[in-house]
Amino acid sequence: MDRPRRLRRTPALRRLAAETRPASAQLIQPLFVSEGLSEPAPIGSMPGQVQHTLASLTDAVDRACRAGVGGVMLFGVPSGRDAVGSAGSDPEGILNRAIAAATTAAAGREVVMSDLCLDEFTDHGHCGVLSDTGAVDNDATLGHYRSMSLAQARAGADVVGLSGMMDGQVGAVREALDGAGFEDVVVLAYAAKYASAWYGPFRDAVESTLQGDRRTYQQDPANRREALREVELDLAEGADVVMVKPAMGYLDVLADVARVSDRPVWAYQVSGEYAAIEAAAANGWLDREAVIHESIVSIIRAGADAVLTYWATELAESR
Ligand code: PBG
Repeated sequence: MDRPRRLRRTPALRRLAAETRPASAQLIQPLFVSEGLSEPAPIGSMPGQVQHTLASLTDAVDRACRAGVGGVMLFGVPSGRDAVGSAGSDPEGILNRAIAAATTAAAGREVVMSDLCLDEFTDHGHCGVLSDTGAVDNDATLGHYRSMSLAQARAGADVVGLSGMMDGQVGAVREALDGAGFEDVVVLAYAAKYASAWYGPFRDAVESTLQGDRRTYQQDPANRREALREVELDLAEGADVVMVKPAMGYLDVLADVARVSDRPVWAYQVSGEYAAIEAAAANGWLDREAVIHESIVSIIRAGADAVLTYWATELAESR
C-alpha cells in the first residue's frame, strides 16, 4: 500500500516536505495616506489599519522594511476631488508626496509602488473620466493615466500599479513612461480585476464617493476564461507583472494565469478578505493566526509569486 501519511508523521518531516513556504520578501503591504490629518486615523471596517499622515507613513514604511517585507503599495486620500482627478497628477498631490516620502524612508530596502487609478481623486468616484452621457470614457481616461504615471515616476515610484481596468492602459502608460526617460519604471497590471463586493472596506479607507458600481470596466465574477484575455493583452502591451484580484475567491483564475504568464504573477488579498477574517477572529469564531497563515499559503500555492496583504508587516514581524 502506498502511504502518503509517512511524510506527515513528525513536525520535522512535515516541515521538510512542505511545498509552499511563504517568505517575507513575497509580501507587499498596502498603506493609505490621507491629506490634512494631524494624527493617523483608524479605519473602522479594517481594524488594525489606519489612514496615515505623511509622518506616520514614514514610520510604517520603515517598520515594513525592518520586518523584511518585499514592498509597499501606496494609496492616497486627497482632501479635494474633481471631475478629472487632477490631484493624481499634481506633484504636490498627496499620493505623489507620499511616494517621495516613502522612497526616502525605504532607502532602497524595499520596493515602493503606487496605485495608478483615478477613483481616489475623482468627485464621482469612478476609475476614469466620464463622457457627456455619464459613462466612463475609456480612451479619454488613458491621457489622465499617462500624466499620473509621469507624476508618480518623478516622485520616485519603482512600480506603478494600474488598477483602473481601462482597455489599453498598460500600453498607454508604458509609452508615456518610455517617452519621458522612465524606461526603468515597472508596470504592474491589475490584469484580472473583478467587480467584487470584497472591496467594501477599502472604499471606506479611501472615503470613496462612488455611487453605483464598476461593472462596465471591472470583470464579471462569473467569468474565468475572460481573465486570460485580459492577461494576454496586458502582457502584449508590456506589463512587467500581472495581478489577480481579489485573491481567495479567485484561486482558479490565479492558477490559470500562473500557467500562462512568462512574467511574475501577484495576487491582492483585498480589504474584505482582511475584514472578514478579523471580524470572525474578534468574535472567537476563527483562530486568527492560523487562518491568516493558511490564507496566504493558499494564495501562493495557487500560483502567486507575491501577495499584497494588509497583514504583510505583521506576518513578517512574526517570523
Ligand atoms: C482602485 C482600487 C480598489 C482597490 C485597490 N485599487 C478599489 C476598487 O476597485 O473599487 C481595492 C483594494 C481592496 O479592497 O483592498 N483604485
